[in-house]
Amino acid sequence: MIKNGRANFGSKLGIILASAGSAVGLGNIWRFPYETGNYGGAAFIFIYLGCVLVLGLPIMIGEFLIGRRSRANTAGAYQILAPGTQWKWVGRMGVLAGFMILSFYSVVAGWTLEYVFEAIGNGFAGKTPDEFVNSFQSFSGNPWKPVIWLVLFLLSTHFIIVRGVEKGIEKFSKIMMPMLFVLILILVGCSVSLPGASKGIEFLLKPDFSKVDSNVILAAMGQAFFSLSLGMGCLCTYASYFNKDVNLTRTAFSVGIIDTFIAILAGFIIFPAAFSVGIEPDAGPSLIFITLPNVFQQAFSGAPWLAYIFSVLFYVLLAVAALTSTISMHEVVTAYLHEEFKLSRKRAAWMVTGGCIFFGILCSLSLGVGKGFTLFGLGMFDLFDFVTAKIMLPLGGMLIAIFVGWYLDKKIVWEEITNNGTLKVYAYKTIIFILKYIAPIAIAIVFINELGFI
Ligand code: TRP
Repeated sequence: MIKNGRANFGSKLGIILASAGSAVGLGNIWRFPYETGNYGGAAFIFIYLGCVLVLGLPIMIGEFLIGRRSRANTAGAYQILAPGTQWKWVGRMGVLAGFMILSFYSVVAGWTLEYVFEAIGNGFAGKTPDEFVNSFQSFSGNPWKPVIWLVLFLLSTHFIIVRGVEKGIEKFSKIMMPMLFVLILILVGCSVSLPGASKGIEFLLKPDFSKVDSNVILAAMGQAFFSLSLGMGCLCTYASYFNKDVNLTRTAFSVGIIDTFIAILAGFIIFPAAFSVGIEPDAGPSLIFITLPNVFQQAFSGAPWLAYIFSVLFYVLLAVAALTSTISMHEVVTAYLHEEFKLSRKRAAWMVTGGCIFFGILCSLSLGVGKGFTLFGLGMFDLFDFVTAKIMLPLGGMLIAIFVGWYLDKKIVWEEITNNGTLKVYAYKTIIFILKYIAPIAIAIVFINELGFI
């Protein structure tokens, strides 16, 4: 559907699924479990849930309304809604964040492809937990293999972006998202019935708040923004393709619920299995790549063909979930270059793909041969992850909240949230109150705490 010369999503379900497709990805299945493991389990999850509810949903509504009102890329949006001001820098910072996330995210997305082929070749059969650890380490440290997968993954993203919004993004999400969900449910069932799984369940449900410090809170907040695709104008760009009758509040709740549910379920796959086979929960970014193959081997030891089918299916769907997320990040940067610099879409897309291949390779090498090169004690991969998730996204979210809560005309906010008064939004006052006061103050406090001023 083309309106005003700009593409639109075709249906309401398509809108929810495409936005959820952006949100659901490696952030839920790879990053959420390992951050939960790093920061102590249940207490982290509680704080995370609080961040999603109190900060995530209202800011998501804010991003949606900026995008739909302006019908422009995220930097252009601020120039339309706040002409002649410096607000455009919020959009530009978002574009930069998107580019950086896409670079390191593609590395992990590439790993999922390796595991797809490993699964297809029946490479997991008969391996012990230790062997899974070793083979992951030798693979991710290899200078060539991960790089090839990363390039392949970025090229796939590229070609979908070039095909356009509706045909590329929407169709894809509609089929794959429900399939992923069903498979995840099956795997939760398998994982919690492994011997010794109850320790993992306890880890997820019994909070120990005595270990919570400002690091844990910053990590939970960063994870909430990362997982919901918030703070960099990603959902703002998607919302610029929404129709006028989309209920922004309801869409935000749907996306938030789907995303959170999948992250929690991923936790229930990973931790019971990790405790069952004796893998430490704080294994870091490698966590899902060393625990999951064990789940397949052990849960289906009586039926190897089931282990085979489920492992192939799982990694394929994980790669697809990653793809719907990389598409959304790529789209932000491509739409920006295309609309702001008057480049053709194709050319803009090539610039993004090329740039991300370059930085992605550096990120990938920083985990192996380039381990010695660090900045502030972090390799490139970890540095990009840290700077984006823990600084740029929350900062972007804070500025979006201030923009909608304080700068933007109240009438515009009301028109967008209630669709010109045709919708009754019960949470309206709460949403505005959070955007005005709670979100900016809470994020500022976490930042100040982290910088050590308090
Ligand atoms: N939310 C996605 C995930 O969980 C990743 C992602 C897509 C993202 N677009 C984003 C993260 C924009 C931050 C900002 O995998």
